[in-house]
Amino acid sequence: MTRIKSVVLGTAILPAVLALPKTTPTHAHYRGRGYDANSTSDRAQAVVDVFRTAWGGYYKYAFPHDELHPVSNSFSDSRNAWGASAVDALSTALVMGQKDIVNQILDYIPTIDYTKTATEVSLFETTIRYLGGMLSGYDFLTGPLSDLADNKNNVDALLKQSETLANALSYAFETPTGIPWNNLFFTSRSNDGSANGLATVGTLVLEWTRLSDLSGNTSYGALTQKAESYLLNPSPPSSEPWTGLVGTDINVTTGQFLDSTGGWVGGDDSFYEYLIKMFIYDPSRFATYRDRWILAADSTISHLTSHPSSRPDLTFVAMYNGRNPSLISQHLACFDGGNFILGGQVLGVQKYINYGLQLVDGCHETYIATATGIGPEVFGWDSKRVPADQAEFFNKSGFYIQNPTYDLRPEVLESFYYAYRATGDPKYQDWAWEGFLAINATTRVGSGYSNIDNVNVAGGGGYGDFQESFWFAEVLKYAYLIQAAEAEWQVSKDGKNAWVFNTEAHPFKVAS
Ligand SMILES: *[C@@H]1O[C@H](CO)[C@@H](O)[C@H](O)[C@H]1NC(C)=O
Ligand SMILES: *[C@@H]1O[C@H](CO)[C@@H](O)[C@H](O)[C@H]1NC(C)=O
Ligand SMILES: *[C@@H]1O[C@H](CO)[C@@H](O)[C@H](O)[C@H]1NC(C)=O
Ligand SMILES: *[C@@H]1O[C@H](CO)[C@@H](O)[C@H](O)[C@H]1NC(C)=O
Ligand SMILES: *[C@@H]1O[C@H](CO)[C@@H](O)[C@H](O)[C@H]1NC(C)=O
Repeated sequence: MTRIKSVVLGTAILPAVLALPKTTPTHAHYRGRGYDANSTSDRAQAVVDVFRTAWGGYYKYAFPHDELHPVSNSFSDSRNAWGASAVDALSTALVMGQKDIVNQILDYIPTIDYTKTATEVSLFETTIRYLGGMLSGYDFLTGPLSDLADNKNNVDALLKQSETLANALSYAFETPTGIPWNNLFFTSRSNDGSANGLATVGTLVLEWTRLSDLSGNTSYGALTQKAESYLLNPSPPSSEPWTGLVGTDINVTTGQFLDSTGGWVGGDDSFYEYLIKMFIYDPSRFATYRDRWILAADSTISHLTSHPSSRPDLTFVAMYNGRNPSLISQHLACFDGGNFILGGQVLGVQKYINYGLQLVDGCHETYIATATGIGPEVFGWDSKRVPADQAEFFNKSGFYIQNPTYDLRPEVLESFYYAYRATGDPKYQDWAWEGFLAINATTRVGSGYSNIDNVNVAGGGGYGDFQESFWFAEVLKYAYLIQAAEAEWQVSKDGKNAWVFNTEAHPFKVAS
């Protein structure tokens, strides 16, 4: 499906001879006459408008650098100066049908030199943002959105550049175990020698397997599947305190886990996410991954489920150190509700869907409890550790704030999206819309959108002056898709998905 850009009608009286195209979109009235906040197509168009505002600021003041500093109208290159925001924005511009932006990005990508960078490269971040963004673009532009590309050579370049990038990264896997180093220095073809982690090792396999399937070079998938094998069969036994739930740091030389701490939090999160997504990508090749997801999900329900003493109606998931749970969670972890729902749908197991919906409720509470209507980066609910100045807040809300920042993160909206796709309940569209309005009202500044200092102070307590590339890839994509019309890339209600989203929200076509 392609969408026509909405016609700007304003209040001008159109000459009678100026015929409107037959395909005048239903939301054409949005700009001129305000919009109906209960109309999902008007909401979707409002998200597109925000996307265009953010892209315009980035394009004017930062392109082709990695990200915009919207307050100072400047830029930085935190992701190796390959244009992270542009590559990350591509799949969102595509699903939104923003042809002009799609082609600005497509004209740029063939000019990137992925073999050179002066700064440290994260194998994980590079994989999920750059490789994920280009492969998703390739899947869309060789598939259902092919008419959005002006130049077919630019589409071919997406795959070529993906191979060039993966080839430049692949020396990371030259270790005694095959587990890659994460932090790389291209100039000296070296690494920083540090332990790798569960999420950073376990969130490569979808992108690199897709690249193998598209390019015909089987090495990419093989490298990451070998690395993943150490995560699926963890050693020593103490690193798996509950079946399926594992530690965090891994020695690249020995393949041994170095601890038994973890959870669904940052550093661990997308390892669990990808177990079920690999099964969606190809059930015949990745059934073992599904089995490990089921073990992790069941152990989570049995051992990590927690209800705050002041709000026993809420459900949060604890972290752990060995078999000791700690009652802390994060905005990052709020993808978990969506992932349980997705797993439940795909496996046809209602208990995972029900559990996921409870987690979605809990994360929604972290949004509606604060002064801005946005949830905090880190929160806790241990009744013995409530900060004195948050006692009243804890009594009312069921959690206290440990880190009050908001970094333009998507996870809560992402879980609303899965909840809506599974249930069809418009409540989740309303929640996503309210979250989007709060984020738009609080983080909009200067030439774009910024991270903020304090979600529990009206206005957000100050700006960090940094517009993350995942603002384009994730926040605006989920905020849009939950309101948008049916399309083949939307998560399906019946558990039979034609597309699967990587952890950066870049949709890939599943292996057929
Ligand atoms: C939107 O829907 C709600 C609930 O159905 C209703 O109370 C509200 O008045 C509606 N708002 C508009 C602007 O139509
Ligand atoms: C296949 O990928 C591997 C891993 O990056 C690379 O070393 C090799 O050169 C590639 N083969 C071809 C024919 O491009
Ligand atoms: C990993 O194990 C090797 C071999 O035992 C050891 O030399 C190295 O210091 C360990 N590295 C880390 C980060 O623990
Ligand atoms: C919190 O709730 C407890 C138990 O209901 C009560 O004893 C305490 O006074 C409350 N504290 C505040 C600050 O509201
Ligand atoms: C988003 O914020 C901008 C700037 O404050 C505002 O003009 C716009 O109306 C907001 N969008 C929505 C849908 O509220």
